[in-house]
Amino acid sequence: MRLLPFVSLALATTALAASVDDYVATEGPIAEAGLLANIGPDGSKSSGALAGIVIASPSTTSPDYLYTWTRDSSLVFKVVVDQVVAGNTSLQGLVDDFVTAEATLQQVSNPSGTVSTGGLGEPKFNIDETAFTGAWGRPQRDGPALRSTAIIEYATWLYNSGNTTYVSNTLWPIIKLDLDYVASNWNQTTYDLWEEVSSSSFFTTAVQHRALRQGATFATLIGQTSVVSNYQTQAANLLCFLQSYWNPTGAYITANTGGGRSGKDANTILTSIHTFDVDAGCDDVTFQPCSDKALSNLKVYVDSFRSIYTINSGISSTSAVATGRYPEDSYYNGNPWYLTTLAVAEQLYDALSTWTALGSLNVTSTSLAFFQQFDSSVTAGTYASSSTTYSTLTAAIKDFADGFVTIVADYTPSTGELSEQYSKADGSQLSAVDLTWSYASAVTAFAARSGATETWGAAGLTAPSTCSTGGSGSGGSSGDTIAVTFTVDATTTYGENIYLTGSVSELSNWSTTSALLLSAANYPEWSITVNLPPSTAIQYKYIRIFNGAVTWESDPNLSITTPSSGTYSTSDTWR
Ligand code: NOJ
Ligand code: NOJ
Repeated sequence: MRLLPFVSLALATTALAASVDDYVATEGPIAEAGLLANIGPDGSKSSGALAGIVIASPSTTSPDYLYTWTRDSSLVFKVVVDQVVAGNTSLQGLVDDFVTAEATLQQVSNPSGTVSTGGLGEPKFNIDETAFTGAWGRPQRDGPALRSTAIIEYATWLYNSGNTTYVSNTLWPIIKLDLDYVASNWNQTTYDLWEEVSSSSFFTTAVQHRALRQGATFATLIGQTSVVSNYQTQAANLLCFLQSYWNPTGAYITANTGGGRSGKDANTILTSIHTFDVDAGCDDVTFQPCSDKALSNLKVYVDSFRSIYTINSGISSTSAVATGRYPEDSYYNGNPWYLTTLAVAEQLYDALSTWTALGSLNVTSTSLAFFQQFDSSVTAGTYASSSTTYSTLTAAIKDFADGFVTIVADYTPSTGELSEQYSKADGSQLSAVDLTWSYASAVTAFAARSGATETWGAAGLTAPSTCSTGGSGSGGSSGDTIAVTFTVDATTTYGENIYLTGSVSELSNWSTTSALLLSAANYPEWSITVNLPPSTAIQYKYIRIFNGAVTWESDPNLSITTPSSGTYSTSDTWR
C-alpha cells in the first residue's frame, strides 16, 4: 500500500523543482482523469468496454489497442486500489467491477488454454470479455501475478475492515487461481512484458516472487494455511532464480534469458518500482530502487539511449534524457516511451525515500559509477544524512530525477494527453493515443516524488544458496541432487537461442521441444544450472533454435559423470 508521509522529501526548492512542481500540478489531475476515462462502462473514452474492463488505449488503428491486457489493467488497478486504501472510497465500486470482470476473464477459454490448463497466462482479451483468438506472443506469465497483487491489497484492506465473508468466499478463490498458476508455472517459458521475447524475463520473475510472498501472508491472515508452505517454497525458488539475471561484467540486469539483445531494458527499471518496499532498505537481493545493483543498472540503461535518439543530442552525459523500452527496439522505429522515462524518475524518488528512512546512503564499488555522475570525487562508503556528501548527492539525484519528468513535460502537448511513445526525432506523439498505462505511470511517479512509499514483505529476505526449479507445485528440491552448471561458448544471431538436452529426464530425455533454454546473461557464454542425480553418467548436447528451426551440435554426444556430492560445472564450446 502506498502511504503519504507528513513531510515531503523535497529538498531545497530549485528553479528546476519549481517548474516540475508546476507540471505535476497540471498534469497530475489530467493523468488521473485520463486513466479513469479508459475504464468501462462509464469512462468517457472506454468505447463500449464492459464494467471494470480497462482498455489499453482508445486507438483502433495504427495500432489497434482497443483490447484489455491483464498486465496493463492490473497495474492500472493497483493505482486505483492504492487510492481506495488511502481513503478515496468513492472508487471502491470501480474496484469491485474490476474484480468481477477479471473473475469472468479467468474462466474464458482462450488460445493459451482453459482456466485449469494454462489459460490464465493469456495476455489480452476483447473488451466484451470474449477471447482474442488472433496470433499473439503468448503466454505472458506476469499477468496473474500482477492481478493477484492488486486484488490482495484490496482484499487485505477489506478483511481488516471486517468484511471477512466477502473476502474469504468471493475474493480468495479468484486470488488463489492466479497464485496457484504462478506457483506451478513460474519456471515455464514466457513472453516478456513487451510481448516479443519468449524465454524467462526479469520483470515476470520479480513480480511472480512478490505475488507469492504477498499470497502467503494474505493466506495466513485469512486462515487459508494449506497453501502457505508451497507459496513460500516457490517464492524462495523465484528469489534464487532472480539473482541469475545480474550481469556482473556489464554491471546491469539482463532483462531476458533469451532474445539475443544487449538485455538493457526498461523491464528492469519497471521491476524496481513495482517491487519497491521501503522497509527492505537498499537490499540488492530484491533489487530495491536504492540497491547498488539497481542504481548501476539504471545508469547503464539510461546511457544506452543517449546517442540513439536525436532529441537527446547535446544533453550532458550526466543529465536526464528520453528513454524507451530497450535500445534495439524497432516498434514504430524505436522511440522513447512516457512510461519508461517516468519509471526512471520514480525509481530515483523511491531511492531518495529509502535513504531518508535509513538516515544514510551507501556507495559500493558496484554503485560507484552511478554516484560519480553527481560528484566525481565520491568514494565507496556510508554517508550519514548529516554529512555534506549525503546532502550533495541526494540534492543532485533529486534534480536528476526531476530531469526525467522535465523531459516528459517538454514533450507533453498542451492538452496534457499522453500517448504511448514520443518521437525520437522531434518529441511529437506516436503510436497509441491516451495510453492508460502512460497515465498510471504519471500518477505513480508523481506520488513517489511526494514521498509515497509502500511495503509488501521484502524486508530481510535472503536467496537460497542452491536454486531449485520447483516442479509443478511439488514444493521444490528433493535435497539429494547435484547442481550442475552447464556453460557453453556460442555465438548466435539475433533471435537465436541455445538450449540443452540430454539422456536423463532432468535434461528432457533428448527432446528438442522441451529442451532447457540457457541464459545469455554473459553472452557469448550461455549457461544454466540443473539439479541432477548424484554419481550418474549423463550424455548431453547443446542445440540452437532459430525461428523454430533446430540445429544440433556435431557428434559425438558430450558426457559427464556427476559427483556423489557438491556441485559440478562444464566449460564447453559450441561444435
Ligand atoms: C505489438 C506489441 O504489443 C509490441 O510490444 C511489439 O513491440 C509489437 N507488437 C511488435 O512485435
Ligand atoms: C505494447 C506493450 O509492449 C505491452 O507491454 C502492452 O501490454 C501493450 N502494448 C498494451 O498497452
